[in-house]
Amino acid sequence: MRNELTHAAENIARSSRLVVLTGAGVSRESGIPTFREAQDGLWARFDPMEMASERGFLRNPQLVWEWYEYRFGMVAAAQPNLGHLAIAALEELIPNVTVVTQNIDGLHQAGGSTRVLELHGSIRRYKCFGGAHRGYTRDDLATQSEKPPRCPQCGDLMRPDIVWFGEYLPEQVMRDAYAACLRADVALVVGTSGVVQPAASLPYLAQEAGATVIDVNPEDDEISRMADIFLQGMGGGVLPGLVEAVRSLRQGRS
Ligand code: APR
Repeated sequence: MRNELTHAAENIARSSRLVVLTGAGVSRESGIPTFREAQDGLWARFDPMEMASERGFLRNPQLVWEWYEYRFGMVAAAQPNLGHLAIAALEELIPNVTVVTQNIDGLHQAGGSTRVLELHGSIRRYKCFGGAHRGYTRDDLATQSEKPPRCPQCGDLMRPDIVWFGEYLPEQVMRDAYAACLRADVALVVGTSGVVQPAASLPYLAQEAGATVIDVNPEDDEISRMADIFLQGMGGGVLPGLVEAVRSLRQGRS
């Protein structure tokens, strides 16, 4: 692991265009359960497909709204962890850093990352069901008591601006994510099981385009096996040391 960490740090220290691909695991140490874990207790009897699909929403908008209220409560109480902070610190060391995340929690931005592409949207933004009116925050809807509230512009039901099962990913975000992977010299992958497409294809795309893929994950899985360098461990455990090693190498060179 020590040698692998040094090897990874050397690659990152040489990088001029780094893409960081993250999934639910990077927020685990902030206390945010994964999608499946969030089905605990009160919500255990509900089908995730029902809670995260247009069909489920139309069947029971109030229930789905409350499920997202519950999840928002967890996200709002969470702080970025050492992994998010280390990823943000890479911007001081590498000329171009793009974070591409499957997470909807906004913790990369809270941790200081400035270029974050949210593939699956954000639990902190809302749009009307028809999708014509977006960019609303909780504060914008706070005066309404109806659950879900109504769009201030068209009166349609409001929903979180999250990509649900069966929906397309936001086109421009996806285009930017592909571009970031195609031009990257290093792809640092953290905390994703690599099973949800199209996000799962991004490490492969970056690798085929010439990037060195580094995977940080406590579990040995498909991504860790395709990666050029696998750093087995938790994001908050591995990333601070990795970034410090990159910092030393960059300082040694300047
Ligand atoms: N640090 C790094 N990785 C971790 C940590 C940690 N502390 N804890 C767990 N992991 C790893 C797990 O080993 C697993 O590989 O994070 C990964 C989490 O996998 P998933 O829960 O499948 O999350 P993700 O890959 O982001 O896919 C979830 O599925 O429900 C949809 O759209 C939803 O974006 C979401 C996607």
